[in-house]
Amino acid sequence: MANGNVAVSARNLNKSYGDTVAVRDLSFDARAGEVMGLLGPNGAGKTTTIKMLTTLLPIDTGSATIVGLDVAAQPDAVRRVIGLAGQAAAVDGKLTAHENLEMFGRLYKIPRVERKLRIGHLVERFDMGEFAERVVETYSGGQRRRLDVVASLIAAPPVLFLDEPTTGLDPRSRTELWDEIGELAEQGTAVVLTTQYLEEADRLSDRIVIIDEGVVKASGTSAELKTDLERDVFEVHVTSLEDLGRAVEASERVAPGVSSDTGDLLLQIPLTDGSRQSLAVLRVLDDAGVRVSDFQLRRPTLDDVFLTLTATGGNR
Ligand SMILES: Nc1ncnc2c1ncn2[C@@H]1O[C@H](COP(=O)(O)OP(=O)(O)O)[C@@H](O)[C@H]1O
Ligand SMILES: [Mg+2]
Repeated sequence: MANGNVAVSARNLNKSYGDTVAVRDLSFDARAGEVMGLLGPNGAGKTTTIKMLTTLLPIDTGSATIVGLDVAAQPDAVRRVIGLAGQAAAVDGKLTAHENLEMFGRLYKIPRVERKLRIGHLVERFDMGEFAERVVETYSGGQRRRLDVVASLIAAPPVLFLDEPTTGLDPRSRTELWDEIGELAEQGTAVVLTTQYLEEADRLSDRIVIIDEGVVKASGTSAELKTDLERDVFEVHVTSLEDLGRAVEASERVAPGVSSDTGDLLLQIPLTDGSRQSLAVLRVLDDAGVRVSDFQLRRPTLDDVFLTLTATGGNR
């Protein structure tokens, strides 16, 4: 868990590509021992942010420090204290996974015995045994992805950046990666993780920053984000497609913002005063002759938070 030392500090970061503003006034902190989840839809500015923080892309305006080192002024020193997954280019295709990992371990000056143990542990954990002695050029996309992630974990650096690390991983490797990330954080690593997967952010992150179109929309723990939404969701199952149509129309009159799912014959209605408004909804549904098979008032999920705060949600 977080020990309080700020490991990553981003202050008012801005980045444009020509006319495209990719990141706008973005600020956040990540502490040692903490997993910070940068959550956002495609094109939100996650990769651009990670690239700036890892010295791969110059910052237009704003500043950032990694364990107190200024990213713009001390890039070489910063590179020595960070790990980054997504550096597929750093893997040598003519070498085997084992040789690549050895090379990374030596680069980070990890003593021989420890290096051997760490590589053995990760190769087993990510089920790389059957291909670790083959040259990387022969790998499938998924095998290469696993090597890429493992390479970033070798050094157990003080600060680890993972840009959508589970994309392209099989379910088992994904779970192993989640566990490995949790263990590294417990040992004091600050992890900055980007993801489009809500479940992943919810499960892994101590704190979450939701960004969209380069702007921070909300931040806090998953529980805080759900509470801050100040709404419950009333779910109503109906018995036919025709009922669903009538139900949407009727409930919109007392509670706007209804979304419906024709597959599940389900209505989801955001309510700010759940217990009072849910009765009003049931009343108008009854008046409209809608046959209801089931209903429940539930707390919002991170999904609801995300959809409410990002443009994707606004279009629903
Ligand atoms: N090299 C680039 N040149 C021009 N525009 C880019 C470039 N990289 C990213 N962008 C744009 O910047 C925005 C943010 O992209 P990105 O940081 O990759 O988002 P994410 O990683 O969240 O999907 C998007 O609108 C994207 O199209
Ligand atoms: Mg990206």
